[in-house]
Amino acid sequence: MELVFASNNPHKVREIKSILGNSFTLLSLTDIHILDDIPENEPHLEGNALSKARYVYNATGMNVFADDTGLEIDGLDGLPGVHSARFAGEGKDSSANIEKVLTLLGDNKNRKARFRTVIALIFEKQEYLFEGIVTGRIIKDKRGDEGFGYDPVFIPDGKTRTFAEMDQTEKNSVSHRARAFEKLREFLYKYSQTDNKLKR
Ligand code: IMP
Repeated sequence: MELVFASNNPHKVREIKSILGNSFTLLSLTDIHILDDIPENEPHLEGNALSKARYVYNATGMNVFADDTGLEIDGLDGLPGVHSARFAGEGKDSSANIEKVLTLLGDNKNRKARFRTVIALIFEKQEYLFEGIVTGRIIKDKRGDEGFGYDPVFIPDGKTRTFAEMDQTEKNSVSHRARAFEKLREFLYKYSQTDNKLKR
């Protein structure tokens, strides 16, 4: 069965292919010739994920899912949240984003934070949402070279190293995205067990 992942990020598409296995033919936006920059203007992660999935569903009628992720910092009232990618400007510059977070936090003692991923799935005409969260804290100085985004300043609870000091396997064992995609995988697996349509 074909399933569209509303993303053109080859790294993400590869990662998700490995999580979902072979029961599905996973198609990216490029595969289905959607090259538009799908708007992400909603005030919440849920709204953005849903609007991306609906955009593709309305254009193609295909089963589709989309994700959106944000870093929510308690000491900044949940910022950068839905603005995580462009927190310091349209350039989506990770270093500038981190600098802005560290400057705004200053010496704030409340450095509790969470990464949250929301996946919106439109499957057989029904909409579903899946959420994955990892809680942790923001440190004062960057550490590590792996990963991307805010990884160098985020230490997940129960660990002593930042996401940027972990390899992909260790990050996946606790990460927001892995948790959300695991829920999607379980949903699709259950469906495939109860409905032979997936085996056609
Ligand atoms: P997206 O929705 O996956 O594109 O994520 C939006 C933004 O959140 C990214 O541009 C990053 O700044 C940040 N982000 C998402 N996932 C991660 C992560 O695993 N580590 C660090 N930053 C992340």
